[in-house]
Order: sequence, then structure tokens, then C-alpha cells
Amino acid sequence: MTTSPDFLRWETRFAKPEYEFGKAPNDFLVRCKALLPASGTALAVADGEGRNGVWLAEQGLAVTSVDFSPSAQKKAAALAAERGVSITLIEGDAHTFDYPEAAFDVVAEIFTQFSTPQERPLKWAGMRRALKPGGLLIIEGYAPKQLQYGTGGPKEIEHLYTRDMLKAAFGDFDDVRIAEEERVMHEGAAHAGMSAVINLTARKPR
Ligand SMILES: C[S@@+](CC[C@H](N)C(=O)[O-])C[C@H]1O[C@@H](n2cnc3c(N)ncnc32)[C@H](O)[C@@H]1O
Repeated sequence: MTTSPDFLRWETRFAKPEYEFGKAPNDFLVRCKALLPASGTALAVADGEGRNGVWLAEQGLAVTSVDFSPSAQKKAAALAAERGVSITLIEGDAHTFDYPEAAFDVVAEIFTQFSTPQERPLKWAGMRRALKPGGLLIIEGYAPKQLQYGTGGPKEIEHLYTRDMLKAAFGDFDDVRIAEEERVMHEGAAHAGMSAVINLTARKPR
């Protein structure tokens, strides 16, 4: 069990009963609904209190939800029970997790910008490995302009995602769509207000 300052900070945030990021799924993830298979497997990376993993399970997918915070995962289990779905919870670090090879039809990474530039390739290589050929990758993160809004996300610019960064990592995928957006977020108290985000959908080549 890690006791790093980051881990303790997240544990403290998730210790309160309120859902820090709300119980509703991320808007961009919901907009990807038409791209999802009717059945299959999904990996929700750093899924926290489970709002996105639970929603993916409600769409008929067998979901594995990974996060390093046991307090968050307790809330994810409660949310799944409340919604009448089951998800597999794995306590794991997104950078060192043993991502299984070609195991998932969908991999979703929503607001996981805790990674330093040195750590990010470990997470993205794992996500790439975990996707089945033809599998769908969904990413949403904050863009550098978010530092002007200050309505959520990390303060370190090098943690934020840019089009070039996403293209360098996943430009060899099929059907790559990258969009920068500014929109009002209502994701609990933690992501609230006008925000600058960047999102991606793409398919791992067959
Ligand atoms: C901004 S929250 C987003 C949670 C979730 N994806 C969502 O959209 O509601 C970031 C999440 O990353 C988790 N986290 C932070 N560092 C991590 C790490 N190294 N490995 C796994 N999870 C981590 C935190 O516990 C937290 O749940």
C-alpha cells in the first residue's frame, strides 16, 4: 500500500460522503455512446468513485474499474449497487498496473492527469496494450487553457493534454478524432464551471 502524498491527498478527498465528481457520467463519454459495442469488455482507467465505469456497465459492458484509492472504490461499489450493475474493481496504480494484452473492447481514460510527462507513456502504453484490435479508445482531459479557467484539474501545465501529444501517442490508430472544446462542466464540486478540455476517440488498428 502506497503512502505517497498524492495517494493520501486523494484518500482525503474521497473520504467524505459526497461524490467529489458527482454520480453522473462524464458528458463526453455519454456522447460516445453510439460508438460503443452492444456487449463486450471495458476498462475504466483511474475510475475513482465509478461514475464512468458504472455508466459503461449500464450500457451492457463488463467493466473493470482501476484506481489506486480504496476510498474511491468503496464509493464506486456503492454506486454500482445503487444502479443495479456489477463492476470489477481493481486497486492499482495506473502507471504500474499490469494491463492485460488485448483484453478490452473499450478503454476509457477520463480526467486522469495526475501523470507526469515521465509517467504518462507508461499509462498510455498500458492502455494501448489492453485494447483489442479494433477496440475503442476514449480520452478526455484538460487542455492548457484550463489554467486560465481554474475550474478543476491539475495546476501543472505539463500534466495537461494537447493535440500534438495525443497525435504522437495515438496517431497510428484508426478513425482518430481529436477535438478541443470549451464548455461548462457540472461534475460534482471538483469540476465546475467553464472549462477547456480536449478529447479523443480512436480505434486500435486490427
Ligand atoms: C480527477 S479524478 C477522476 C476520476 C474519474 N476518472 C472520473 O472522471 O470521475 C482522478 C482519479 O485518479 C486517481 N489516481 C490518482 N493517481 C493515480 C495513480 N497513480 N494510479 C491510479 N489512480 C490514480 C484518483 O484516485 C482519482 O480517482
